[in-house]
Amino acid sequence: MQPTLPVCLLIALPVLLVQGSKTGSSKKSPAPRPPPPLGDLSWALGLRLYQVLRSESSSVNTLFSPLLVASSLGALGGGSAGTTASQVQDLLKAPSPSKAGAQVGEFLSGALKSFTKANGTTFHLHTSSAVFSKQAPPVSQAFVKDTQAKFRLQHRPLGKGDSKADLKQLHGWAKAGLGGLEGAPLEAEIQAKAGALILASALRFKGLWEREFSEERTDLRTFLGKKYTKVSMMHRAGLYRHHEDVENMVQVLEAPLWGGKASLVLLLPFHVEDLSRLDKLLTLELLSKWLEKTTVTSMAISVPKANISNTLSLQKQLSALGLTDAWDQKVADFSGVSDKSKGKLHLGGVLHWASLELAAQAGKGDADLEEENIEKPKLFYADHPFIIFVRDNATGALLLMGALDHAEGEPLHDEL
Ligand SMILES: *[C@@H]1O[C@H](CO)[C@@H](O)[C@H](O)[C@H]1NC(C)=O
Ligand SMILES: *[C@@H]1O[C@H](CO)[C@@H](O)[C@H](O)[C@H]1NC(C)=O
Ligand SMILES: *[C@@H]1O[C@H](CO)[C@@H](O)[C@H](O)[C@H]1NC(C)=O
Repeated sequence: MQPTLPVCLLIALPVLLVQGSKTGSSKKSPAPRPPPPLGDLSWALGLRLYQVLRSESSSVNTLFSPLLVASSLGALGGGSAGTTASQVQDLLKAPSPSKAGAQVGEFLSGALKSFTKANGTTFHLHTSSAVFSKQAPPVSQAFVKDTQAKFRLQHRPLGKGDSKADLKQLHGWAKAGLGGLEGAPLEAEIQAKAGALILASALRFKGLWEREFSEERTDLRTFLGKKYTKVSMMHRAGLYRHHEDVENMVQVLEAPLWGGKASLVLLLPFHVEDLSRLDKLLTLELLSKWLEKTTVTSMAISVPKANISNTLSLQKQLSALGLTDAWDQKVADFSGVSDKSKGKLHLGGVLHWASLELAAQAGKGDADLEEENIEKPKLFYADHPFIIFVRDNATGALLLMGALDHAEGEPLHDEL
């Protein structure tokens, strides 16, 4: 997107090397930065979906995987035609025209691969995607093969039972996909009619920091969320990319995970407040600007140990974003999924299970980490709600987006 960037780096590199040899210091050239959110379809979809979800007053501890939702929609889009297909395409449009069209599938499947490669070293990741079908006409083998290869999307028929039995089957599948974790219960009902296709995806994530938070320094503090609770707070002083937007009163912190293959980005309001102000502020432009403006800074970080888990049924939200035809048996066109699809096949649900654990551990193995010289660290004291992103370093794609509005813990009693 910015053809001048690599050139700058090439020019800057010899200069740094010369300086390095003169002073004998071992300073490396700054690591190249991942592509910005602007122009990335996983961020674009993530942000739109986040804002629809957050406009509902009931949303607490929102969490979902934009990359996974985009991938399963992309897979389904490949089996559709007509306006059903164009509505999916609109939803997955890259905000900048340079990445539009045929490259969407490649981008998504490339980002999925990039992420799964770092499993076990940079984070622990469990993930599964499937399209379930209810009493559907035979599904095209070409569709099954293609979506499995590109998006790791399995095809599973739902049993003959009623909606209770369907729900049980879906929950069992999600639990296996989450590596045995019991997902939060689904709030909406699932009523799969004959011919329904249900997209399901599940993701469980636990990042492994580049530098660990020491367990000894973990203590009990108050988290000022929806309710005030006692939580385990982790502390660490070190060098982190950080930016302070004084006008919008928000701190932006980027904390690398093991090996630099992914990072966590946290947005923390200066003062205690619920996240509604910040939620409304977010745009791709602003996020890109913030991330670009972060500089390596001495920081004293405090973050609660916490889990964010939720289960979403996204029909209402995706409809609000323009995906309307797919749900309607009469107009939906899934002729790429089955040649006998007409008047039968339709989208019956988009279900998503996500879980994120914030813990103290770093990755294991040889760490080629430089010593950190910390001077007068700035405080990043996350004792109140914040927004969280997990992004892939190589592709810049957005694996997770969420908010911690409330941290589980013993409720704080009035001390008077
Ligand atoms: C991070 O990504 C940039 C480009 O996105 C790449 O040049 C760099 O090598 C990556 N770093 C790691 C540790 O993978
Ligand atoms: C990540 O690794 C764990 C443990 O080896 C494995 O159980 C899990 O399936 C892997 N996840 C993915 C997405 O490959
Ligand atoms: C988060 O969940 C994991 C199990 O998935 C558990 O081991 C851990 O203690 C939980 N953390 C908190 C802060 O509740």
